[in-house]
Amino acid sequence: MIKAVSSPNIALIKYWGNRNNELRLPAADSLSMTLDGPVVEVTVEQAPTASVRSMLADGNEKTLGEKDIARFANHIELIKQALVHFSAPDAIPASLAITVKSAIPPGIGLASSAAVFSAVAKAVQGLAKLSDEQTSVLARLGSGSAARSIDGGFMALVAGEGDDIGAAKARQIAPADHWPLHDIVVAPSVAHKKVGSTEGHAGAATSPLFLTRIENIRRERQPECIDAILKKDFEKLAAISEEDALDMHRVMETQSPPLHYLNDDTHRIIAEIEQLRKSEHLSVLYTMDAGPTVHLICTEDCRKRIAEFAKAQKGCTVFELKIGNGSTLVAG
Ligand code: DP6
Repeated sequence: MIKAVSSPNIALIKYWGNRNNELRLPAADSLSMTLDGPVVEVTVEQAPTASVRSMLADGNEKTLGEKDIARFANHIELIKQALVHFSAPDAIPASLAITVKSAIPPGIGLASSAAVFSAVAKAVQGLAKLSDEQTSVLARLGSGSAARSIDGGFMALVAGEGDDIGAAKARQIAPADHWPLHDIVVAPSVAHKKVGSTEGHAGAATSPLFLTRIENIRRERQPECIDAILKKDFEKLAAISEEDALDMHRVMETQSPPLHYLNDDTHRIIAEIEQLRKSEHLSVLYTMDAGPTVHLICTEDCRKRIAEFAKAQKGCTVFELKIGNGSTLVAG
């Protein structure tokens, strides 16, 4: 039995759209900060038949839908293909029993799939001798953004080129202790979103804004964002990442069919935080993934003030997270 734990990451340059949907080969590079929670635990063991179970934080079993079960089965098949590619074809047994324990409410833009599929990949790394970069490829095959949760700190998913299964992999830009930022997460609604990222990615290229966005990331945003991180230039990081988050949502809203993940609460929180940082000179930035949830990323000296702001938001669930170390294998 192999056990691995992992946690989500929050993207500063967003991954939206694939050049190959089946293999989750992204259209562009992306960049994120790995978070220290909420933690997901995945257990993988040999079994006569393949199965997947999902346990909730309270210990109760969550019934998985057909779509979820098929996604895990597909992930394991793709992992087997990748292991052949990495010259480790017999590294995992023919059928696996997978158990997932997650404290993350799914579908609110808190990257639950990133934590789950990176933990699955990490568990497989415990069975096969793979590098972290190869493990990030396995994670990517379950969920593109999961590749960025294999290691901690600041992670880039490098898109690469072509249709080779291993062409896109994650690379660490800086470890967690380089810049100990915080992520105060304000979730206006814990209701499951209607359209998941996988379906959304498939429509991204129908937006008239898509290609310009990809070109922008390639030419400017990704290298500039990496530069801001390496120099710990918060103002620059805020300007680029906020521009990119809003740009991704404009692509989502103009793709066909359009996806509207942000709601009135999101826009209100953004407006209030812009006001607050101006009046109190706070190093805080906002960003949103595929949901109305607002991530308020800030420096240590602003953490208390931002948490206070977040907790004053009526009807919202708040998570106080910080930069984390990525996935790990657990003994036992
Ligand atoms: C908006 O990794 O969830 O959070 O590969 O289909 O699982 P799949 O998509 P996913 O896409 C993440 C989209 C995003 C932006 C990001 O995390 O970069």
